[in-house]
Amino acid sequence: MQDFNFDINFNLENKVALITGAGRGIGKSIAQLFAAKGADLILVGKSNNVVNVAKEINESGRNCIPLVFDLTIEENIKKIVKTAISEFTRIDILVNNAGIVFLDEAAVMPKENWDNTIALNLTAPFLLSQVVGREMIRREYGRIINIASLAGVLGYDKRAAYCSSKAGIIGLTKALAFEWAKYNICVNSISPTVTMTEMAEVAWAGKKGEEMKRKIPLGRFIYPEEVSAVAAFLASDAAKMITGTNIIIDGGYSIN
Ligand SMILES: NC(=O)c1ccc[n+]([C@@H]2O[C@H](COP(=O)([O-])OP(=O)(O)OC[C@H]3O[C@@H](n4cnc5c(N)ncnc54)[C@H](O)[C@@H]3O)[C@@H](O)[C@H]2O)c1
Repeated sequence: MQDFNFDINFNLENKVALITGAGRGIGKSIAQLFAAKGADLILVGKSNNVVNVAKEINESGRNCIPLVFDLTIEENIKKIVKTAISEFTRIDILVNNAGIVFLDEAAVMPKENWDNTIALNLTAPFLLSQVVGREMIRREYGRIINIASLAGVLGYDKRAAYCSSKAGIIGLTKALAFEWAKYNICVNSISPTVTMTEMAEVAWAGKKGEEMKRKIPLGRFIYPEEVSAVAAFLASDAAKMITGTNIIIDGGYSIN
């Protein structure tokens, strides 16, 4: 029996997606594209900007709730999932996007910056995947998309904690993909290079950014929409045989 029919526009109708860090940048772009493709959404963020994004999406006709929570506080993870399930009965797609970077020389990096980076970029996605994953296992359906980074594949200056957290989430992606394939749960990561968001404007300002751009064969940085397009594809039924991969978006930077 054939089981490879999918909507050629990669629609997400009748799907419920939980997206972290959705108040701005890449997470906001993923939320807007998923909504345009028909998904209902739970948007999690640390600040009130998720409320504004949710309001815009509600006005466009989708059902969308904002949840303002700090993901590095462990008790919040269960609260988030409980609220999401009570509102929508299920979560089909989880996007672990919220992330942070501190720029420190490794030799003098305060341990606090290491801990905060790992807490948000690696531990929170693990805990959220665990709690959401239990529901997905029960329903034998799920898509988890982790926003990693090219910094999880290559090494960069002043990013020991960030590179470690992103390499970690690529490893987590593969481990969960392997363990949960039998429950029809696909887990993948996306690794963009510099993407034009507020985070990148700080981290890649000035001469350093211009030098970096010159090393990219396609000659520019990424737009958030170019990351959300890959996320929408991975969330859709067209990608149901893709699991455990890390899709790099880097304009050719890592070719050689
Ligand atoms: N921008 C880039 O160049 C780039 C490149 C590769 C990967 N990434 C990754 O993409 C993801 C999104 O990056 P971005 O540039 O859009 O970031 P951003 O700083 O613009 O947005 C991050 C979002 O996460 C939220 N957030 C921060 N701390 C939080 C916490 N403790 N609890 C809950 N939410 C919290 C913020 O409120 C914000 O909405 C991150 O994981 C980042 O590492 C970014």
